Amino acid sequence: MLTAENLKKAYGSLQAVDGVSFRVGPGEVFGLLGPNGAGKTTTIGMLAGLVAPDSGEVRIAGHHISGDTSPQKRRLGVVPQELALFDELSAAANLALFGALYGLSGAAAAKEQDRVLTLVGLADRAKDKVSNFSGGMKRRLNLAAALMHDPQVILLDEPTVGVDPQSRNAIFDNLETLKAAGKTLLYTTHYMEEAERLCDHIAIMDHGKVIATDTVAGLLRQAPVSSFVLIDLVANDFANLVEAAALPGVVSATLSGRQLRLGVQSMGDLPQLLRWLLSHGGEFEHVQTERPTLETVFLHLTGRSLRDA
Ligand SMILES: Nc1ncnc2c1ncn2[C@@H]1O[C@H](COP(=O)(O)OP(=O)(O)O)[C@@H](O)[C@H]1O
Ligand SMILES: [Mg+2]
Repeated sequence: MLTAENLKKAYGSLQAVDGVSFRVGPGEVFGLLGPNGAGKTTTIGMLAGLVAPDSGEVRIAGHHISGDTSPQKRRLGVVPQELALFDELSAAANLALFGALYGLSGAAAAKEQDRVLTLVGLADRAKDKVSNFSGGMKRRLNLAAALMHDPQVILLDEPTVGVDPQSRNAIFDNLETLKAAGKTLLYTTHYMEEAERLCDHIAIMDHGKVIATDTVAGLLRQAPVSSFVLIDLVANDFANLVEAAALPGVVSATLSGRQLRLGVQSMGDLPQLLRWLLSHGGEFEHVQTERPTLETVFLHLTGRSLRDA
């Protein structure tokens, strides 16, 4: 449905996007995941036809997009990272403006306006000025604006940044509704929990390049560990961390305060690990396990944490 082929964009000597390729199937939710500065917004800009690539191609349903008047652009809805709303106008007036950009007016515009306001849960706020909206409500209206012309493919750039948890959940629900309606969604985020929850396929970007792309399950299989074991030690005088890290089946070992965190290849090794601990001054009072996440995969691939990057 949406194809990026070897997209490149430089700003001066900075290669913001450096040969990005991927395919998004119809009805799929595709996540572009990466730290700030990875090149996500620039990639979205090229997909939307708003940023001219230095090289490479974008196709929507097999058609090239070229020029501002390309009819293929009507198939696209773009939800920008920066809000694109007029604060002094009502929600309805904002939507009327967006509708007009796509040639909607009169009864047709009013119908779409009702549809998108209902979708994002703001039907009762149509007449309110946007300046009275919370950050989360503005984000939801920003999404509604991109949907006025009922696009098949929706590009969303960090739609949940700076949003309260309640609005974030509302936006998730909106995205799930759009997916259920058969829309194709491409979504950027630097929150890996979100990407894990929403996306069918993910491309992890770093420094302008796609460093891994797969299903969520496929990416998680790239993690170097099958589980983390979090062991709360009774005392914080455990002196055998280096030896613990060298045990068979242990990939990583860190100690923070009294909590020992072991990355292990197989949970089958756990009983002997715990026995080893008890016989090496590592008496413990609580043990829990944690699955690897996309954060683990990013750390493994780049040596950096997605959160810190
Ligand atoms: N218009 C621009 N002019 C100069 N540099 C830019 C411009 N847009 C983005 N960049 C730079 O390109 C890199 C990628 O930016 P961006 O695509 O916004 O990344 P992301 O959305 O992943 O945070 C960053 O280093 C950013 O500073
Ligand atoms: Mg961005």
